[in-house]
Amino acid sequence: MERTLTILKPDSVAAGNAGKILAHLEAEGFRVVAMRRLQMTEAQAGAFYEVHRERPFYGELVEFMTSGPCIPIALERENAVAYLREVMGATNPEEAADGTIRKLYATDVGRNAIHGSDSPENAAIEVAFFFARADLLG
Ligand code: RTP
Ligand code: MG
Repeated sequence: MERTLTILKPDSVAAGNAGKILAHLEAEGFRVVAMRRLQMTEAQAGAFYEVHRERPFYGELVEFMTSGPCIPIALERENAVAYLREVMGATNPEEAADGTIRKLYATDVGRNAIHGSDSPENAAIEVAFFFARADLLG
């Protein structure tokens, strides 16, 4: 079974939408393998989004991701990476399809409710960023 990493971003947690988004993911067939809640440090958020370091929105992204607690979750499902991207919707909620998590819960392109790994290779890296091997055996 394929695994992917999602993060319920600080806007979702602050708005009290974490439970609703998790229920949405479970209804879409995802199983929670491991879950935690933390407020990322600048170093952690910077490292997680390292690939975007040169992008103009990097500073804002790190500031937002450290602005409050978030909830990283390792998820399992058939075709988990691609299917999560579909269920999340487009990065910009204005472009997200009806019924997607970002359409339902995101505020704008920065405060967009949820992260999802963009490839199986990155999913493995991102799951290992937040969870130890011992957390992932179940
Ligand atoms: P994510 O990595 O969080 O799942 O989002 P994504 O794949 O849909 O989008 P990505 O291109 O990887 O961008 C990462 C996050 O950076 C913020 N962003 N802001 N102001 C902007 O134009 C802009 N573009 C991207 C978003 O919060 C996006 O989720
Ligand atoms: Mg991305």
